[in-house]
Amino acid sequence: MTSRAKDGSVGAPKPPAHVAIIMDGNGRWAQQRGLARVLGHRRGIESVRRITTECARLHCSSLTLYAFSVENWKRPKTEIRVLMNLLRKFLIDERPTIMENRIRLTSIGRIDDLPIEVVRELRKTEQMSARNDGMVLRLALSYGGRAELADAVKRIAREVEAGRLDPDAIDEETIRAFLYDPELPDPDLLIRTAGEMRFSNFLLWQVSYTELYVTQVCWPDFREPELAAAFEDYRRRVRKFGGLTKVAT
Ligand code: FPP
Repeated sequence: MTSRAKDGSVGAPKPPAHVAIIMDGNGRWAQQRGLARVLGHRRGIESVRRITTECARLHCSSLTLYAFSVENWKRPKTEIRVLMNLLRKFLIDERPTIMENRIRLTSIGRIDDLPIEVVRELRKTEQMSARNDGMVLRLALSYGGRAELADAVKRIAREVEAGRLDPDAIDEETIRAFLYDPELPDPDLLIRTAGEMRFSNFLLWQVSYTELYVTQVCWPDFREPELAAAFEDYRRRVRKFGGLTKVAT
């Protein structure tokens, strides 16, 4: 599909509106080179920077990155410390780029589980960018799809208990309203790097009709050409959402 500019000219092909990414393979990238795993995470930050800027440049409306899962707390303390430090540094260093590109940064997950110094920088960047009208960059932090559903059910049960919600009135939209970010649109494209063919507890409610793209490339090597290949593959997909005819996206 191509986009038409205001002057009627046909421009660049339209990208998926909401891109979600499982950034996997940092450890393998490092191990394959005889390096410490944390160096893979460090180089992975450069991919985060490049892919975020590229998605904003291509006018995607949302980018959601699986940066730290609820399961990742099981990793060695030293690796968690490095990841949290990288995240904190990213949130500080990237403010000018975020503002320049009019990106609005937000987060989903059990944010209170994160170290206070990370939460502080996260809230600062969120507040600073809150009025930006460009792409929404969502970081999934201490995030799990099942945890998100369990947290939603807990909050719904409280509403029912307080008499504010009729159980018979609960439908799919009610559940969505109680997710971490009800504004988060269903992803059009879910990219997973490093080859595993699974969802790993990411956005379980939201990916029902998402197109999945898995590449063997590890996250630290996933840059603009790899993103272009994923978008090109997406363009060839026929999306039917359970119906019989292609639905324009
Ligand atoms: C998977 O690689 C990646 C992670 C667990 C974390 C991803 C985090 C970053 C790219 C850096 C921080 C993010 C932001 C947004 C600043 P892995 O360690 O599971 O790799 P492996 O499967 O090869 O071991």
